[in-house]
Amino acid sequence: MKFVQISDLHVGGLFKQEAFNILVEEINELNPDAIIISGDLTDEGLIFQFKKASDEIKKFTCPNLIIFPGNHDYRHTGYLLFRKYFPSSSKQVYEFKSEKDNVVILSLDTALPDRDEGEVGDSQNLWINEVLKTYDNNVTKIVTMHHHLIAIPDTGFTNLVGILDSGDALRILTENGVSLVLCGHKHRPWLWNLGNLKIAYAGTSSSWRYRGIFEDTYNIIELKEKNINIDIKIVGGRKFPISELVKKYEPEKRLAFSK
Ligand SMILES: [Fe+2]
Ligand SMILES: [Fe+2]
Repeated sequence: MKFVQISDLHVGGLFKQEAFNILVEEINELNPDAIIISGDLTDEGLIFQFKKASDEIKKFTCPNLIIFPGNHDYRHTGYLLFRKYFPSSSKQVYEFKSEKDNVVILSLDTALPDRDEGEVGDSQNLWINEVLKTYDNNVTKIVTMHHHLIAIPDTGFTNLVGILDSGDALRILTENGVSLVLCGHKHRPWLWNLGNLKIAYAGTSSSWRYRGIFEDTYNIIELKEKNINIDIKIVGGRKFPISELVKKYEPEKRLAFSK
């Protein structure tokens, strides 16, 4: 089973049309079971950006697009437009079955109007609990959200603009045996391996808002008999394990610029 996570398209001034066109070609060729589009589809939540973003994602041939908002989408009262332009985003539970794997993917809305930080919130957290407990241990559980569940390097004070109630969310996710959390938001590809839980972060797939890796990227998640493999793919370039990128991180490089 194969899923693709693209994130932070940022349709607007820093959107890269050429990169997006290549992205579409590559992903249509990959023919994934679903494409997860993890927020910040627009740069400023403006109506013409929603219109364009909605037109652009129609180029994907994959019938399963899992879409949810980011903080940029909720700017300028974009929260009033998101559902209108992406009506499928009202669906938040997706099930996939193959001969050897059963998967459930939950998509969360963590964005807050005109705020950069995110929140799962008590009612959504309880909802996650209610839904996940209906699935047994043979089902691989994946939860997707825009904001960072846990801070990662090279993203500044990400604890201030990540998930405010991450402790409550983490408790529910680990309690329910979630194997993988997918985040977007700060455009810094990363991977945490925390016991049985992996948290993967996608870069920007098609904008100039790079961080840490100066290319348009997306993540490819492959599942084989409950084993999860995550690769990072450079748009128009090579594919490699996301763990390689984490291993190559050099904290010494920050030293020269730190106080
Ligand atoms: Fe973003
Ligand atoms: Fe964001």
